[in-house]
Amino acid sequence: MSTFDEVIAADQRIEPRDEMPEAYRKTMVRQIAQHAHSEIIGMQPEGYWITRAPSLRRKAILLAKVQDEAGHGLYLYAAAETLGMDRADLTERLIDGRQKYSSIFNYPTLSYADVGVIGWLVDGAAICNQVPLCRSSYGPYARAMIRVCKEESFHQRQGYELLMTMMGGTAAQRAMVQDAVDRWWWPSLMMFGPPDADSPNTARSMAWRIKRHTNDELRQKFVDMTVPQAERLGVTLPDPELRWNAERGHHDFGTPDWDELKRVIGGDGPCNAERIANRRRAHEEGAWVREAAAAHARKKEATP
Ligand SMILES: [Fe+2]
Ligand SMILES: [Fe+2]
Repeated sequence: MSTFDEVIAADQRIEPRDEMPEAYRKTMVRQIAQHAHSEIIGMQPEGYWITRAPSLRRKAILLAKVQDEAGHGLYLYAAAETLGMDRADLTERLIDGRQKYSSIFNYPTLSYADVGVIGWLVDGAAICNQVPLCRSSYGPYARAMIRVCKEESFHQRQGYELLMTMMGGTAAQRAMVQDAVDRWWWPSLMMFGPPDADSPNTARSMAWRIKRHTNDELRQKFVDMTVPQAERLGVTLPDPELRWNAERGHHDFGTPDWDELKRVIGGDGPCNAERIANRRRAHEEGAWVREAAAAHARKKEATP
């Protein structure tokens, strides 16, 4: 039987019953739980617009997209369970603030253009982050990511298609899109986490092949991918320092406000309290469903 180090060196997958260092298990639990929570909390900013969608078609698309995010949360909680975690316990940790979720979901959605911009930029950034995770060293997580990424690419396209439609509309609609881009651009860049110099765990996660690229590499990739899409759309990205650097073969861009990221992660973003309060209420209101499901399962087990 191969040891943990041999499996990692051979670029193979660690499976739930394999031996693994406790620090690896803890890192995986933290990452998977944080990811699962992000999917579930991430339903809120867009979920708000389901009853306010401008047409039946837009409502159906948004409903499907938000439902997908619930599914992503479920795959990921199931992946965390393979590491001996209990889903109810993870939810407790989320609502009492012991575990985090992505900072991006603490920003408000002020217009329907935000639905498009979230699909384009936020799901786009999620794809950049998650495609390399399909080769992550922990098997259940890597396999969950394959399914998640397929659905994320639908999310990104639906966002871009919505924005294209709005940009072909009235001046007021175009202004809504530009306003949403102005508000979401910098928080989207922050989704890749702090700069590498400030990210002490990156080296170990790379050595364990949990991560394949550093935060700054992924951020650069996202900027390079997004600039031509913004041009095609006809919007301006709100960064005066953004320009092509022929020598590097990449775009140069400005520095996100890292203090803002720290504040939002620390609980002081525009919507942190509201997001957690909603999640707590949904959890409490769903207690009877969980109890009924457990009672039903017990009854089924008891009847031969
Ligand atoms: Fe998702
Ligand atoms: Fe998504």
